[in-house]
Amino acid sequence: MMTIMVNDLKHAMTSAKRDSSYILEVGEKGEENLNLQHKMLESNSIEQLNKAGLREGIVVWDIGCGSGEMTEYIASVVGSTGHVYAVDASEEQIKVTKKRITSADYRNVSFIVDDISSFENKSFEEADIVYSRFLLMHVKGPENVLNRMLALLKPSGVLVCQETAMDSVNNSSGNVFIDRYFQLLIAYGSQNGFDYNIGRKLQTLCSTVASFSKIDYYVTKLDLNSSNGKKLLLSRLDEFKDKLIGANLVSEQEMAEIKQGMSDYFESPRLSDCTLYTEQAHLLAFQ
Ligand SMILES: C[S@@+](CC[C@H](N)C(=O)[O-])C[C@H]1O[C@@H](n2cnc3c(N)ncnc32)[C@H](O)[C@@H]1O
Repeated sequence: MMTIMVNDLKHAMTSAKRDSSYILEVGEKGEENLNLQHKMLESNSIEQLNKAGLREGIVVWDIGCGSGEMTEYIASVVGSTGHVYAVDASEEQIKVTKKRITSADYRNVSFIVDDISSFENKSFEEADIVYSRFLLMHVKGPENVLNRMLALLKPSGVLVCQETAMDSVNNSSGNVFIDRYFQLLIAYGSQNGFDYNIGRKLQTLCSTVASFSKIDYYVTKLDLNSSNGKKLLLSRLDEFKDKLIGANLVSEQEMAEIKQGMSDYFESPRLSDCTLYTEQAHLLAFQ
């Protein structure tokens, strides 16, 4: 895929292709759920970027920027003396990110529609930090993508990744609908060449692609037994259910039963005594 700066969005809309097996909606259709998810992740993600040395005046690449919530935060920190390159394979995502950044009146962001799997930086500055959150789980060939991201870094740069592991779901209630929900997602990933458990392998993967002076790896919990967590689980089900049905992994009827079973359970007072979370893997690789 060719690189297209967003000023040329009209052209980008017609010439860039998107992998149709990507499980989520893009553009305005996917924005609300990405926003909700961001609210739940924000403090951990910011903490991770602080550990990486995010500061005024530096250059950061945000790969797979989605709706640009983190792009906006990074732009606010690096300020007018720094710069952010927001990259996404989907022109619809970049359009949403550009709208967000323009409304916030930041002028230190460049927008690039491209597939990181084949991206080569020929025109732009190298990065002090290359950042990605929930990108590697959505790519085929994460080793290649890590190498592509490494190639964007300055010799002293830091690679910062956050990924989930869906098989880490801790559902102490044993609610069968919740278990089935995650099993189906993992099955969809396997069928389409995505590893939705990639958080577990992040550290090993990183050590195999290059040698770093230091790697920091740690795990946090994303609480799904919260009002935002329960809302996100249900609205995401509506977002991806057609993909699962289309892949013949589940019938429309079973999908409706899962949604109903989860909704009923989320209303149940018994859930307050239970744990429901997934683990988030955080990696910082210092060159
Ligand atoms: C789950 S979203 C995460 C968005 C954002 N990083 C966040 O955490 O809110 C994954 C994003 O990666 C983008 N993406 C997937 N595959 C990509 C690729 N090969 N190259 C660039 N972007 C990609 C998708 O279009 C989507 O916007």
